[in-house]
Amino acid sequence: MPEVRIIRNYVGFENSHTLDSYLERGGYAAFKTSLAKDPDEVTEIVKKSGLRGRGGAGFPTGMKWSFIPKDVDKPVYLCCNADESEPGSFKDREILEKDPHQMLEGIAIACYAIGSHKSYIYIRGEMPYGAKIIQGAIDEAYEKGYLGKNIFNTGFDLDISLYRGAGAYICGEETGLLESIEGKNGEPRPKPPFPAQVGLFGCPTIVNNVETLAFVPHIINNGPDWFAAIGTPKNTGTKIYGLSGCINKPGLYELPLGITIRELIDEYGGGVVNGNKVKAISPGGSSSALLTADDLDMPLDFDTMAKAGSMLGTAGVTVMDETVCMVRVAQNLAHFYRDESCGQCVQCREGTWWLEKILRGIEEGRGTMEQIDILLDACSQMRGTTICALADGCAMPVDSIVRKFRHEFEEHINLGKCPHDNPCMGDWN
Ligand SMILES: Cc1cc2nc3c(=O)[nH]c(=O)nc-3n(C[C@H](O)[C@H](O)[C@H](O)COP(=O)(O)O)c2cc1C
Ligand code: SF4
Repeated sequence: MPEVRIIRNYVGFENSHTLDSYLERGGYAAFKTSLAKDPDEVTEIVKKSGLRGRGGAGFPTGMKWSFIPKDVDKPVYLCCNADESEPGSFKDREILEKDPHQMLEGIAIACYAIGSHKSYIYIRGEMPYGAKIIQGAIDEAYEKGYLGKNIFNTGFDLDISLYRGAGAYICGEETGLLESIEGKNGEPRPKPPFPAQVGLFGCPTIVNNVETLAFVPHIINNGPDWFAAIGTPKNTGTKIYGLSGCINKPGLYELPLGITIRELIDEYGGGVVNGNKVKAISPGGSSSALLTADDLDMPLDFDTMAKAGSMLGTAGVTVMDETVCMVRVAQNLAHFYRDESCGQCVQCREGTWWLEKILRGIEEGRGTMEQIDILLDACSQMRGTTICALADGCAMPVDSIVRKFRHEFEEHINLGKCPHDNPCMGDWN
């Protein structure tokens, strides 16, 4: 089956980032259509489509929009989360570099639906090219009157500003992102209150991912039933899967939600390098619990992954083959999260530090058998006990690696060294 390109429909178009190219592909028609509707009707359409957030948690988008209080006497904000710093995830970057107007149109429609006249796009600091492209697109949209005052003579006003982060993973967490836009350190806030009640500058705010927003114009143009008919009943539409690791054809593939891991690897990824066997799969970015070769026939959707004790997350699917050292993978993950912890919570600040220290010791042949259970104990104390989910994002994959590949830890300890010559998947960061 070929790719099902809804939000990757720019592939093959030259200068797809320009307004001319976007208009050629029917751009901004959905915004015009939306402005002729009641804002609640727009939210209802998105609700009916079943669209779930593509930023990680899979939360229903229309429902999130409906949490904005009615008749509020404060400004309402929409923040587009373009921070994309999760190791293994590289889908948003292509959208914002190749088709920024699609994202802008999604933002504009979302703003209209929630009664917002000001939106911020928060882009990861290490994406200077993306920032340049987005700013160019914003300027073009203002020039044509798609942004600014009295858009399409409807009386609707909207301003969009680009905000560049300084390169911290934690600023992708929605409240860390809000703190950062406010000019503070990117330290997540305890929830509740949720941003829809108390968000940016204390005002009601929706935070949505780039990919989520990119779907919105297509849902308005084609109708909610069209979108809901793609994928599975509770996991509707397509998803951009980012395939990487020990794979012949790594890359982005837009496919209906629910495709199996095996189909993704064999039919699109061209199989595992050197004809090797799959050892482990990280199905949703570095924060997801790892799966094994026994799980290859599982559908890659939000609910199946949750049921399997993992998560679809960003659908950054990383494949590890039989040559990969799983202790080294765990150590590298812990190293990343230790570096990126904002330090507010003891379980996260200390937990990530200790996990990395113990894992490094085992990888370098200095570990003890007792430490294997200490790792599991530390992971259990980190999960669900902190302000944000970064600590879980470290504990979940490490816990799964220790449980599913315990024999590799024992082998390292018994040998007093790493038995792998070529830990090719070791460096995620
Ligand atoms: C540590 C951490 C990092 C995150 N990074 C991102 C990110 O880079 N991009 C993103 O869209 N969501 C990220 N999220 C999820 C956001 O908090 C939020 O759920 C998401 O932007 C909501 O958008 P959605 O409803 O469209 O999925 C992160 C969450 C955590 C805990
Ligand atoms: S879990 Fe970690 S990153 Fe999140 S708020 Fe606590 S210390 Fe900061």
